[in-house]
Amino acid sequence: MNAAVLLAGLVAAQSPERILIDTDPGDFTDDNIALVMCVRSPERVSILGVTAVAGNVWAPHGAASARRTLRLLGQNTPVHLGAQQPLVHTREMSQREGPLDFAGAFATPKPGSRRETAVEFMIRTLEREPEGVTLLAIGPLTNVARVLQQRPDLAAKVRRLVIMGGNVYVPGNASKAAEFNFWFDPEAARIVLRSGIPKNILFGLDICNKVVLTREIFESVVRRLTPITRLYRDSFGNGFPGFYKNPNATGFLWDELAAAYLIDPAFVTRSETRYLDVETTFGPRYGATLPLNAPPAPGATAVEVMLDADVDRVVNLYRKLLTQTQS
Ligand code: BDR
Ligand code: CA
Repeated sequence: MNAAVLLAGLVAAQSPERILIDTDPGDFTDDNIALVMCVRSPERVSILGVTAVAGNVWAPHGAASARRTLRLLGQNTPVHLGAQQPLVHTREMSQREGPLDFAGAFATPKPGSRRETAVEFMIRTLEREPEGVTLLAIGPLTNVARVLQQRPDLAAKVRRLVIMGGNVYVPGNASKAAEFNFWFDPEAARIVLRSGIPKNILFGLDICNKVVLTREIFESVVRRLTPITRLYRDSFGNGFPGFYKNPNATGFLWDELAAAYLIDPAFVTRSETRYLDVETTFGPRYGATLPLNAPPAPGATAVEVMLDADVDRVVNLYRKLLTQTQS
């Protein structure tokens, strides 16, 4: 091998991973923190764009929130408005599902629709990137499913898909059976898990439940006040989990774990490879994750299911990136 080829190989190995972030940020939630973590890790990830999907909040609200966070970080990354509702699930259906722990955007009526550009943008980006793109999907999988429905051939251009969603061996957090992102759009999650995307990595509740956000961690972040930690203080102190209202409150790191994986994957200490499917029969198990020993559809790829974490390691990364003073 000559020196030029060797050098090109080294540069490629060190160059940041080119990613698209598909997200549903509320006013300053785990999605926003995941954005902060990625923006502040330019040696690991290069963000080609951000797409908003309905989930925690309706998509126009999420797009505005993502723009605000990026502006605060001094970034002019494009933010595209994506799916404004799930493929099948509706607010009316969710109201027939009995008491839910969290209904996200379904708690309020859907605003009027606006022009969506996210799916088009994702398709264009996947087409033009010669080495493919990594997708960090931290909201319901509606946008990703719509890309795959329109252009199944582009599954091969997804270098890896890192998902926050699902609950393989533990109970749900939206309903008893289902994790919120999969519950909000079960049909989309099913399309994605049945696709031929070469590498799927899942941060579901199995691993997220192990990384508990305590008041002590919260205090250690808000001790250093910056424009970002001020937003964090208001949101996590007064909103969910509400450390100012209840000092014993706890939360979890969800989307932050999926983002952290792109920055320091060594915090994951246990995983397994499984085929997965999603329950799409409307009823109490709507949106539940189904572990399988065989592919749920011809050509479906298996999923690396993350199960355990070095909690101190990932919490230190979270704290370090959140409290950084420069953008
Ligand atoms: C997931 O649901 C959303 O509320 C969070 O942002 C996260 O993506 C956790 O179940
Ligand atoms: Ca999210």
